[in-house]
Amino acid sequence: MKHFLQLTDLSREEHEYLFARTRHIKQLFKNYVIHHPLQDRMLAMVFEKQSTRTRVSFEAGIHQLGGSSINLTRGDTQLGRGEPIEDVARVISRMVDLVMIRTYDQTIIERFAQFSRVPVINGLTNEYHPCQILADIYTWLEHRDTIQGRTVAWIGDANNMFYTWLQAARLFDFRLHLAAPGGYGPDPARIAAEEAAFLTTFEDPMEAARGADLVTTDVWTSMGFEAETDERKKDFADFQVDAEMMAQAHPEALFMHCLPAHRGEEVSHEVLEGPQSVVWDEAENRLHAQKALMEYLLLGRQNS
Ligand code: CP
Ligand code: NVA
Repeated sequence: MKHFLQLTDLSREEHEYLFARTRHIKQLFKNYVIHHPLQDRMLAMVFEKQSTRTRVSFEAGIHQLGGSSINLTRGDTQLGRGEPIEDVARVISRMVDLVMIRTYDQTIIERFAQFSRVPVINGLTNEYHPCQILADIYTWLEHRDTIQGRTVAWIGDANNMFYTWLQAARLFDFRLHLAAPGGYGPDPARIAAEEAAFLTTFEDPMEAARGADLVTTDVWTSMGFEAETDERKKDFADFQVDAEMMAQAHPEALFMHCLPAHRGEEVSHEVLEGPQSVVWDEAENRLHAQKALMEYLLLGRQNS
């Protein structure tokens, strides 16, 4: 049984299978072809943080694969009254086929997985957001070709998205540039020696963006860090991805953002809505990539 708690839970070769499968599943969807490999299968979704894309893409996705879903939040389950995650995992996983969790510490999802009888998918933790990067790399492949040897510029703090991009850099062999304000850079303890070789850090975001094939950023304040919002607005003021910054990148560079976006903060309206932006494709591809992922975790490789 496989879980998807981090991007590195699957090999490069497995990811490549998933990208090919995503393309196929997307084509079926666009052509209104019914594809029900997960008939009667049940996905439980546990949300401890808010969501639009993750909620809709998983719920629509499992339905389109022939299955159904249950949506749970901390507040309306016994988790909110302190039931241990290990107990919740043993109970839920006896009743459903697959679990997706969005929560705080990665350790919560790891503990759940340890006690689960069924595959567990990380729908975002403080540490990682692997489903988003799955969709983002697929989106890159749709618009360009291989990501191997390319340069991705990450403008912003070393958050869950950044660390997942770093795992992707090592897995798919591309360079990752990072520019973060002082005090918001990566924790050296979280960067494996094998990953460090793929990362270059810059003080100046313009330098980080120079020559990049893909420029990407994220909200200045991630969920769970709301108390720091005002301070972060001041600290990140010079880190907006705007037209001037995009002009530093390769002329054919793409712009990505996992969304939700704050126009006028981490990205200008002009860039988000501009011709280099593929943010709506990224969002849509969450649906197709996660359908391929759910099918793979439950049924393994498929040929038709
Ligand atoms: N990108 C993303 O995960 O969006 P939601 O928070 O809306 O799920
Ligand atoms: N880094 C953001 C991503 C939201 C999809 C957060 O964790 O809030």
